[in-house]
Amino acid sequence: MTLSETREKWDARYADLPLSEPEASRVLSENRHLLPTDGKALDFACGRGGNALLLAASGLQTSAWDISPVVIAQLREFCDARGVAVEAQVRDVLHQPPEAGAYDVITVSRFLERSLLQALAAALTPGGVLFYQSFTQEKSCEVGPRSPQYLLEKNELLTAYRGLRVLSFRDEGTQGNMQAGLRHESWIILQNEALS
Ligand SMILES: C[S@@+](CC[C@H](N)C(=O)[O-])C[C@H]1O[C@@H](n2cnc3c(N)ncnc32)[C@H](O)[C@@H]1O
Repeated sequence: MTLSETREKWDARYADLPLSEPEASRVLSENRHLLPTDGKALDFACGRGGNALLLAASGLQTSAWDISPVVIAQLREFCDARGVAVEAQVRDVLHQPPEAGAYDVITVSRFLERSLLQALAAALTPGGVLFYQSFTQEKSCEVGPRSPQYLLEKNELLTAYRGLRVLSFRDEGTQGNMQAGLRHESWIILQNEALS
């Protein structure tokens, strides 16, 4: 799929989707206590911007990037109406990834581009924290994307970020009671602190 096809696909989806209060991902909402009290934050491939809104409400200077002009316009309108300060920007993250050492917090949810995993860690300030949650290949029902290209393998985030400090990792697969826990998605929270 070309980038303009990607943009058109997401624009059409967001134009059709009823407007509702954007929700933060579980990796962020359930681990909010790990956020710093100030600094710069980025919601990467933000969609409706639920993560960005939580980051801004937590006192962080927040940017939100997405390829879809439709969803960025919706997010700007939402922020204006609520008086929330989020710098929402149309940006293709494949060609314009974040600069190295630029953010104290980065959130990524339900977006997987393997070629950017290392750039995301590199974009953290020393001590900066990455909250990442996305869909897994292992699932018990039809949920999330179908192509393995967009689905995490078992332990994939843990393996990708070997060598950095992991504050939290979940990848529960189909073990045990499927009505409880984090299913069909995996999360990692890591800190930019090299392990010796
Ligand atoms: C499944 S949605 C997830 C949105 C949001 N993070 C969430 O959890 O609700 C994937 C998002 O990635 C965005 N996206 C896809 N390709 C992108 C690219 N190359 N650059 C920036 N955003 C992109 C889409 O527009 C879409 O909003």
